[in-house]
Amino acid sequence: MPRISERGIEMPASPIRKLAPLSDSAKARGLKVYHLNIGQPDIPTPEVGLNAVRNLDRKILEYSPSDGFRSFREKLVNYYSQFKINVSADDIIITTGGSEAVLFAFMACLNPGDEIIVPEPAYANYMAFAISAGAVIRTVVSTIETGFALPPMEEFEQLINERTKGILICNPNNPTGYLYSRAEMNKLRDLIRKYDLYLFSDEVYREFIYTGSPYISALHLVGIEENVVLIDSVSKRYSECGIREGMLITKNKQLRQTVMKFCQARLSPPLLGQIVAEASLGVSEEYMRDVYEEYLDRRNYVVDTLNRIPGVYSPIPMGAFYTIARLPVDDADKFCAWCLSDFEYEGQTVFMAPASGFYTDPDLGRNEVRIAYVLKKEELQKAMLVLEKALEEYNRKK
Ligand SMILES: Cc1ncc(COP(=O)(O)O)c(C=O)c1O
Repeated sequence: MPRISERGIEMPASPIRKLAPLSDSAKARGLKVYHLNIGQPDIPTPEVGLNAVRNLDRKILEYSPSDGFRSFREKLVNYYSQFKINVSADDIIITTGGSEAVLFAFMACLNPGDEIIVPEPAYANYMAFAISAGAVIRTVVSTIETGFALPPMEEFEQLINERTKGILICNPNNPTGYLYSRAEMNKLRDLIRKYDLYLFSDEVYREFIYTGSPYISALHLVGIEENVVLIDSVSKRYSECGIREGMLITKNKQLRQTVMKFCQARLSPPLLGQIVAEASLGVSEEYMRDVYEEYLDRRNYVVDTLNRIPGVYSPIPMGAFYTIARLPVDDADKFCAWCLSDFEYEGQTVFMAPASGFYTDPDLGRNEVRIAYVLKKEELQKAMLVLEKALEEYNRKK
């Protein structure tokens, strides 16, 4: 049999889905499994978006332009202006989800062997996309003790060498929920300028910021406009994960032209998704406010409850819909697997993502889990009770 590629072998399996077979068996045994492991929102997609497909009047489901429909990109200009992000329709390239935006950004900016620096814990698929592009991810560690604040610039600087091409941040952050402050963003700006690096900034969670702190986009930073590559998506914003629409935004014309070659090769972003996403930009303020309040309420409930469980600690996430919690267990991978394979409380159990999957250093995050608060409050209440009971039983057995 011909051999699989080295790259294919190196490609990590999703840490979020790793335990899925155990969850399937738990369900097959009749258990109710609370999914705290995955960022799939349970919020209904806006009606304006759904109606756009319901009322679709097209004879041909054709390719769209490789960079997406102009009408969609023009509406996005308005959307971004609400966040004081000044871009033109030409700066925006529509991609197949934020995922493809990350991949194309790496493909267009990085040579095989080039390095980018990422604060960890980090969204695990960055590693997978870096491997796809032949690039190398180096990490600086943010810790639960600081609430996952940006590590000191000296730690970034120590890693910078002739192969370093960029820094990647996710803001607000998945998996930590951290929101970078103006001071932190300014420090990053200075570093980017000093070494003339790319700043890849994944801002797909900008709608979900729960503190009074301002949201500082990488595109707000003055003096590095040509270095910034913004990654965006409608997946979380409108609960439209399945339509696969994202954006790569950059003011760097040469980079845009390069990204376009990748876009042309894959012909077109999804047609129907663009129609839905474009219509969704007309969503009511009320919808967005209700969604926001729902997440805020869930966040407050989950974090408060976690911190009341003996031995558990969660910092207060400022944004997104995740938190990393420290549990009183020595190995969260084992504990998460045990919850699915050997535990139940009144016919229920919990599915959490072990945080080890978000770190590159195998020694980090061993007693941490990522919890996504994408379930209704009543479900979260039950899930938190199940988690408390699981911890009691797990530690009694030891
Ligand atoms: C931080 C972050 N970036 C990008 C993505 C990819 O989103 P999309 O569905 O647009 O590909 C996700 C999805 O979970 C995410 O959490």
